[in-house]
Amino acid sequence: MSFPYKHVLLIGATAGIGRAMADRFIETGVKVTAVGRRQDRLDEFVQKYGEEKASGVAFDISDISKTPGFAQSVIQSYPDIDCLFLNAGTQNVYDLSDPASFDLEKFQNEVHINYISLVALVHAFVPVFTKRDTPTSIIFTGSNIAIVPAATLPAYSGSKAALNVFTLCLRENLRNTNVKVIEVSPPPVQTELHDYMGDKGRDLGMPVDRFTDEAHSGLLEGKDQIIIGAVGPAETFNEIVDKRREAFDNLAKLMRPVN
Ligand SMILES: NC(=O)c1ccc[n+]([C@@H]2O[C@H](COP(=O)([O-])OP(=O)(O)OC[C@H]3O[C@@H](n4cnc5c(N)ncnc54)[C@H](OP(=O)(O)O)[C@@H]3O)[C@@H](O)[C@H]2O)c1
Repeated sequence: MSFPYKHVLLIGATAGIGRAMADRFIETGVKVTAVGRRQDRLDEFVQKYGEEKASGVAFDISDISKTPGFAQSVIQSYPDIDCLFLNAGTQNVYDLSDPASFDLEKFQNEVHINYISLVALVHAFVPVFTKRDTPTSIIFTGSNIAIVPAATLPAYSGSKAALNVFTLCLRENLRNTNVKVIEVSPPPVQTELHDYMGDKGRDLGMPVDRFTDEAHSGLLEGKDQIIIGAVGPAETFNEIVDKRREAFDNLAKLMRPVN
């Protein structure tokens, strides 16, 4: 199978997983419009591949009052975008027993970026995609710690759990449309996400190239849930994910409106 989409709008493409996936898409003939806050990295990306294949738009996704305008302007400039890849994210450690560490504003900001900002992008793009008569998709980068939370990462784990729930609901809600909803769930990967750990941060987890190979293969296979690695024993982790999805699907079927 091949990746059926022609132009990916990749939110969070200036570093780590997003940049590696952007490179992989372009190498395999898919156009990419990269989004992130760092203009210099967007410029380098476009310069590397040329304007026929690559473009860059600087946008801070946390400013959700600007999301509708961002979506409108991007679609006007690149009307062939048929895949929205929601990959941006941030991570911080909190000790909830320590008032100095439990910074409410930081906590709220993290949940806002990892969850609400992505919901705002979905809100802006679903009406655009559902009007098309060709296949489109929305891809989310989740996390395995959405399923088994990490105690030192309560804002991150909680925001990824909320995103995972939103992904399940969105897929069900869009089941009769041309929009496929895909979730990629990574284990720890060597990126800038863990820079708060200092020097050892970038050595944590799987090399990004290996992750990209596995994620891209899952996309080519047409999977809608690509889980890479596991928290704890893989068999137990995958069983939790599968049983939960089955229970979700059963409940969703019961709740479908009768026509
Ligand atoms: N690395 C891991 O271990 C791991 C594991 C599981 C899941 N994930 C998930 O994978 C995704 C990518 O993370 P990564 O590991 O590749 O981290 P990364 O290297 O830190 O990259 C994060 C990306 O998100 C963008 N971003 C962050 N805040 C943004 C904002 N307000 N507006 C626009 N863009 C923003 C950054 O761009 P700018 O800074 O230029 O804005 C950057 O392109 C995240 O959703 C993360 O939660 C990562």
